[in-house]
Amino acid sequence: MEKDIARVIISEEKIRSKLIELSKKLLCDYQDKDWTIIAILTGSLVFLTDLIRQIPVPIRLDTIDVATYGESTSPMGESKIIRHFKIDIKDKHVLVVDDIIDTGSTLKKVLEDIKSYQPRTLKTCVLLNRLGRRQFHIQPDYCCFTIGNEFVVGYGLDYNNKYRNLPFIGTLKDECYRREGVLV
Ligand code: IMP
Ligand code: MG
Repeated sequence: MEKDIARVIISEEKIRSKLIELSKKLLCDYQDKDWTIIAILTGSLVFLTDLIRQIPVPIRLDTIDVATYGESTSPMGESKIIRHFKIDIKDKHVLVVDDIIDTGSTLKKVLEDIKSYQPRTLKTCVLLNRLGRRQFHIQPDYCCFTIGNEFVVGYGLDYNNKYRNLPFIGTLKDECYRREGVLV
């Protein structure tokens, strides 16, 4: 799998130390709060599982599934919630976790939906922030890394549903896009 990587953008070590920094900040900001995390599937899974294990307090956790990209590397239009979270979030402090904010379409959709359940507070936390393609005026409250316009895979992020299990974040060689037959 690693032979398909053109360039490592963020190493395993950098991710690990950033997560420790982030968890400290979250623990401080959510001190003594009844705290609920809602993670957006599937890209956030690796980030989520590493992050919550740095949080030694009881948190509530659920997931929501949103379709945006399908099998391609460019947005397909409006995001759609395809599986809902189940826990009660009324009057709770909710933190939404995602792998990356790109156009902002996914987070916009999820935030609108969660707001309708009247949480006490609602914040967002992403691993990656790509500023160059934003279509909606949304900025994450917590963000680990800002990246450029290149499409990235690894640490939960996929291309054509593959490469999520790479421990670092990198770009793919052009031949991988040609092989999969899905254009960039
Ligand atoms: P947005 O709705 O345009 O902000 O896109 C957010 C979603 O698109 C993320 O949750 C990812 O699943 C996906 N995405 C955006 N950029 C990338 C990328 O570079 N690699 C893999 N997935 C991406
Ligand atoms: Mg996603």
